[in-house]
Amino acid sequence: YYIGLDLGTSALKLLLMDEKGVILNIVSEEYPISFPKPGWSEQNPVDWWQAVVDGITELIKDVDKDKIQGISFGGQMHGLVMLDKDDQVIRPAILWNDGRTVEECDYLNYEIGKERLSEYTANIAFAGFTAPKILWVKKHEPENFQKICKIMLPKDYLAYRLSGVFCTDVSDASGMLLFDVKNKCWSQEMLHLCGIRREQVADVYESFETVGTIKSEIAAKLGLPTSVKIIAGAGDNAAAAIGTGTVGDGKCNISLGTSGTIFISSRQFGVDDHNALHSFAHADGYFHLMGCMLSAASCNKWWMEDIIDTKEYMKEQEKIETLGENHVFFLPYLMGERSPHNDPNARGTFLGMSMDTTRADMTLAVLEGVAFAMRDSLEIARSLGINIKRTTICGGGAKSPLWRKIIANVLNLEVDIIESEEGPGYGGAILAAVGCGAYQSVEEAADKLVKVINTISPEKELAEKYEKKYQVFKTIYPSLKTIYP
Ligand code: XUL
Repeated sequence: YYIGLDLGTSALKLLLMDEKGVILNIVSEEYPISFPKPGWSEQNPVDWWQAVVDGITELIKDVDKDKIQGISFGGQMHGLVMLDKDDQVIRPAILWNDGRTVEECDYLNYEIGKERLSEYTANIAFAGFTAPKILWVKKHEPENFQKICKIMLPKDYLAYRLSGVFCTDVSDASGMLLFDVKNKCWSQEMLHLCGIRREQVADVYESFETVGTIKSEIAAKLGLPTSVKIIAGAGDNAAAAIGTGTVGDGKCNISLGTSGTIFISSRQFGVDDHNALHSFAHADGYFHLMGCMLSAASCNKWWMEDIIDTKEYMKEQEKIETLGENHVFFLPYLMGERSPHNDPNARGTFLGMSMDTTRADMTLAVLEGVAFAMRDSLEIARSLGINIKRTTICGGGAKSPLWRKIIANVLNLEVDIIESEEGPGYGGAILAAVGCGAYQSVEEAADKLVKVINTISPEKELAEKYEKKYQVFKTIYPSLKTIYP
């Protein structure tokens, strides 16, 4: 059996899979997130670890533990975890959707220059990336910066606590802006620019490589055999791509989680002229391009739970009668926006209400706004000549049939539904299976294990209506840009 750990922003999702890809159990452990200032976002890595201990115990309580061979990960990307010389966490992790590094990004993009950054790393600076956060800590918390012994990404903290190996993988390292994606090695220039020594960052593995075995005291605590292998794993988007079969060349996956991403796999390394999409290594051994919205399913959660105060999402959605006629627009920039606007100061906005506007119209506007903003990233991929006709979909938001239909029609794509919606967790388990030798390659495993069970096709008339609405939507952000703080 194989365990996939999906270290998400709202919860750790743990998945147990057998060699044939059958999911035997799924467990979820929540932990808090704090927003200490507007646009800031932090979590405590020790909470993640506690979730691993509690979650694994629960996940395997009814199975033969000796059958467990490997553990791997899909982890929230870009987060800055810093350990001191005694392996203690120095300060809360600064997460992927934290927007505090506006000044550091300006320094990197405009003083160092986008061209140099792109030459060193294949990417430019975005507020959520790790390197600008390191510069922020260096400037604002010099006493913490002095203490740094190890810099880690979120899932790598879990691998370290499980195995004692200071490791990362190519897909997650790509999002640090310290990694030369093309040559798959650390960029000496970027380490130097951030005031970091090579030994402060981890050894880099392919996502499907074994980094070590479980520490004996942890194995004893969890009731696992000491032979359990720890496999490097991947950033959650690359892991979700594996879990949805988005491997090899030119395939697309959309994730509607806390973030919203559009992920395009590629055998070749490639960068677009404006670095509008991220150019990262993939967990299948190759590369990918990706657009990332900072708030996707989280907009719906915010609207449902914090504003209209219900947990019955589906019941609210049942009140929506027609699609394509809504006069209300919603801009989903509750945490600022990354792709394509790269504007940490952008904010959520409702627009176009009238006296007859209903709660259902606004609920729908939230779902549509996320789809329109996702379309913005798809348009960039299309402008690069990438011809995408179909996509898979995963993440919490993908459980809503209504939202899936909206996505298919707003993006005008065939949307394939996969048997398991647990993208990153399933992908993590597949990486563990490959690392343990059950399959020759990630591609082979994904081809054999991932099953499409249904396809949602765009409907001509509705897609046309949404096309018109999208033409309006795309003019809204440019006209509001200057009034955001
Ligand atoms: C990707 C990104 C997010 C997080 C979510 O660049 O920042 O999708 O990985 O966990």
